[in-house]
Amino acid sequence: NEDVYVLGIETSCDETAAAVVKNGKDIVSNVVASQMESHRRFGGVVPEIASRHHVEQITIVIEEAMRQAGVSFSDLDAVAVTAGPGLVGALLVGVNAAKALAFAHGLPLVGVHHIAGHIYANRLVTEMKFPLLALVVSGGHTELIYMEGHGKFTVIGETRDDAAGEAYDKVARALGLPYPGGPHIDRLAHEGEPVIDLPRAWLEEGSYDFSFSGLKSAVLNTLHNAKQRGEEIDPKQMAASFQESVVDVLVTKTVQAAKQYRVRQVLLAGGVAANRGLRSALQDNMKELPNVELVIPPLSLCTDNAAMIAAAGTVLYWQGKRSDLALNANPSLPL
Ligand code: KG4
Ligand code: ZN
Repeated sequence: NEDVYVLGIETSCDETAAAVVKNGKDIVSNVVASQMESHRRFGGVVPEIASRHHVEQITIVIEEAMRQAGVSFSDLDAVAVTAGPGLVGALLVGVNAAKALAFAHGLPLVGVHHIAGHIYANRLVTEMKFPLLALVVSGGHTELIYMEGHGKFTVIGETRDDAAGEAYDKVARALGLPYPGGPHIDRLAHEGEPVIDLPRAWLEEGSYDFSFSGLKSAVLNTLHNAKQRGEEIDPKQMAASFQESVVDVLVTKTVQAAKQYRVRQVLLAGGVAANRGLRSALQDNMKELPNVELVIPPLSLCTDNAAMIAAAGTVLYWQGKRSDLALNANPSLPL
């Protein structure tokens, strides 16, 4: 039997997740326990609360993933776990659970980078064709990554301040929308017109880096100044204008990089990949590059999950990469 079964575990932020993936591409089970409701009233993820929830949920979630998969530990070939980046107290819960299981069942342990996981979510949807470019946009990340082969990552651009999702959440908060605000802004943006003039941070000529804090400040200032003057700003117009500015920069830089690096595929990953404006603008602009395939995974695989960690972990496993029981959570793990 040549099939490889890997249990993936993910606890880097506010989802406790476990999944079993076959051959790094077929999802056998995929369980996610979200803590969103517990963090909502604080307007963001509270690290201490996140750790506690992970501790409460981790065993249940792993058992459920194994039960739904209908496999036992002796059927597994490895345990893969997110080792970073993320909240250290949250990461530690997954890392320690993975180490305990690997030790108890004599299984190889594979530490996985969270962003590698987001990228490999695409392998659960389609074959990856190199060289490729991945745009990873989430609450914690905004990165353009070039890959010339499995496991070969080059970060060609990243945010210098706020992540795209973070900017969405902060602007949403200023508009009085609930956390996480990304989906609410996305919805409002489709009901409004982008008539408010907002900046776009292109940065230096040829740079693939991003910056969203200037845009966020411009939104906050515009709202503040209007309030001072006793004027009303239509949240739909603000949402549409903000979204257009973010999407314009993300799409322009991604298409530019796809051209320069002559890639065969462009992959979208991370929670902001759910954004309808981003999806449609990327689809439209990629028509300029008819030979480049655009892959956008379903929403459930774009947001944090463990199937993507198992998928990335399987490739590392095939490459002979192993972590030992000294594996530690690293909140600033490099890719
Ligand atoms: O990948 P993810 O679930 O968690 C992180 O690793 O951060 O991403 C969550 C982020 C949040 O900032 C949320 O507001 C944003 O993704 N998001 C969206 C949309 N859906 C989720 N942002 C813009 N438009 C959306 N439709
Ligand atoms: Zn993530």
